Amino acid sequence: MRIALLAARALIALLAFSPGSSSSSPPSKDKTFRTLLAVPASPELGRRSAPRASSDPRAAPAPALAQDVFWSDRLDGAPPAGFSDLHVKRWQLKARSSRLVSLERGCGRVSNRLARFSDGTRACLRYGINPEQVQGETLSFYLSRLLGIRNVPALALSRVNTNTEQWLRVRQDIQGSQWADKSIVSLTEWISNLTDVVAPPPLRTEGRRLHPLLEDLANVTNQEMLELVQWSDLILFDYLTANFDRLASNLLSLQWDSRVMERSTNNLHRTAKGALVFIDNEAGLVHGYRVLPMWDRYHEALLNTLCIFRKETAKKIAELHKSQNVANQLFEQYRASEPLAFQMGFLSEDHAEMLQNRTDRLYKHILQCKAKYSK
Ligand SMILES: Nc1ncnc2c1ncn2[C@@H]1O[C@H](COP(=O)(O)OP(=O)(O)OP(=O)(O)O)[C@@H](O)[C@H]1O
Ligand SMILES: [Mg+2]
Repeated sequence: MRIALLAARALIALLAFSPGSSSSSPPSKDKTFRTLLAVPASPELGRRSAPRASSDPRAAPAPALAQDVFWSDRLDGAPPAGFSDLHVKRWQLKARSSRLVSLERGCGRVSNRLARFSDGTRACLRYGINPEQVQGETLSFYLSRLLGIRNVPALALSRVNTNTEQWLRVRQDIQGSQWADKSIVSLTEWISNLTDVVAPPPLRTEGRRLHPLLEDLANVTNQEMLELVQWSDLILFDYLTANFDRLASNLLSLQWDSRVMERSTNNLHRTAKGALVFIDNEAGLVHGYRVLPMWDRYHEALLNTLCIFRKETAKKIAELHKSQNVANQLFEQYRASEPLAFQMGFLSEDHAEMLQNRTDRLYKHILQCKAKYSK
């Protein structure tokens, strides 16, 4: 399984790699990896400093594309806007009340299924071999809603029970599934016509960086710019949830595969309208927090590539920092929208505290970027 493989590789990397020590890998790869892990020094919190001095005019701030450390309103407000609250609510209602008529192989690993409802629409069904997988998937979805990040498809939980209307007609499909009796599974809205996504040039190339500088944003088409706005949310979201199964795993893989960034990004797709879709978030919040010591260096490296944000996301992070109760707010949203919330369970005390700490870290990071780039 991919996650197990990556975890094993991460452990090997952790044991084999210590910054500053000599490495047995070829020099070019070693350089790439070190460059990635180099975290630029940040100015003290609250202190303002001038933009980086450079003789290259492209290193000047990018006023048309960014205001301060935020994407310009023109870019931020432009479509594609992702899945609206209304859309999510309607889909959840339908997913909970519709009959399933078939469960076919599809949607990834052998334990998942491509489910079809009686109206012909589809959903990806995820069965967790370990309950933390469905929990991570579900809580990551609700955290995305809390943050106002609309790139995660709608999700609803359902308890497998062939005595109920919803499951009656797929009794035979379930018999061949080897799922534990009466498990809770997640149903995620099927999004048609998805395409693969390669990391954009500012994040793909060596010395990756997405700051409000012309140097970073030059030569990017309008379409790519609209996607970059969504990438800035993706980096914050994966940092917060400590989801290693998307970008962080690519950083790790760079040691073995120097061209991994030129390939499509795992668990990330694009709709026909250009919205990024963050699928498969099961590594987030629960599993990701449990294995954080293995992965945090990659999460930190990714966060430090980013110094430009959506205003709405930054505002939400500031609010969640100020309130110091992000886990409570997440729980409230989850409990209010998901009838199986109590049966599926929530974050442990330790993980709730980690979520708050990571929110505070994001808040501080945004302040550091402001100190560096605000006029
Ligand atoms: N909601 C969705 N809408 C459309 N396609 C989807 C959706 N979810 C998953 N898929 C398709 O199924 C593939 C596998 O999905 P997913 O990553 O969720 O499963 P997985 O078991 O983790 O597989 P992998 O190990 O390949 O990541 C995706 O790459 C995508 O093509
Ligand atoms: Mg996956």
